[in-house]
Amino acid sequence: MENTEPSSIDPNLYALYSSARKPRILLAASGSVSATEFSTLCHCFFEWAEVKAVVTKDALKFIDILSLPRGVTVYTDEHEWACWQRIGDSVLHVELQRWADMMVIAPLSANTLGKIAGGLCDNLLTCIVRAWDYGKKQVFMAPSMTASMWKNIVTERHAMLVDELGVALIPPVLKRDPSTGEHVESSGSMADNSHISATRE
Ligand SMILES: Cc1cc2nc3c(=O)[nH]c(=O)nc-3n(C[C@H](O)[C@H](O)[C@H](O)COP(=O)(O)O)c2cc1C
Repeated sequence: MENTEPSSIDPNLYALYSSARKPRILLAASGSVSATEFSTLCHCFFEWAEVKAVVTKDALKFIDILSLPRGVTVYTDEHEWACWQRIGDSVLHVELQRWADMMVIAPLSANTLGKIAGGLCDNLLTCIVRAWDYGKKQVFMAPSMTASMWKNIVTERHAMLVDELGVALIPPVLKRDPSTGEHVESSGSMADNSHISATRE
């Protein structure tokens, strides 16, 4: 049957209706202890979006893949190379970058932040970010590291560089010692899951 536009419906409304689909979110995790929260975060996003997950080798040490929602495909560095045999085959990081409407990296480790700030791309996650079209699609990053790493001058420089790219940083929540009011050394200080998953264009 020919796909004709119903004459009684406003063409603009029809176009909007027929293109209506859930937002496509690339949800990525790097090797911070907060990656133990990744499954919960995946479930939050999966309530309102199509989700594909990208995880670094070290993120996998903190994530129970079986606890992720059934509809979420998880991609690792191995998939990048398993998908490619010869010239002409599609390249996974290019395909995922094209598929996504937006990307959220939560948690973002100090290491991956540094790599992104420096333009390095030696794994699936950083290749996707390196190929990202910042003019058209948003990237959110939720760093998670100890207070001493977060407040380090190196992190400050890296954060400024990714800010220039147009990345939206969701800062970690640093815990305070109630007796002194000073920030204490705490790992896994990623922003709250509900705060991150409320991220929409
Ligand atoms: C038990 C453990 C916990 C760690 N937690 C953090 C963390 O919270 N934040 C961070 O930036 N790095 C953390 N690291 C260090 C990273 O895992 C390490 O820098 C790793 O190379 C990150 O790799 P990726 O960025 O490719 O995922 C931790 C390491 C270990 C062994």
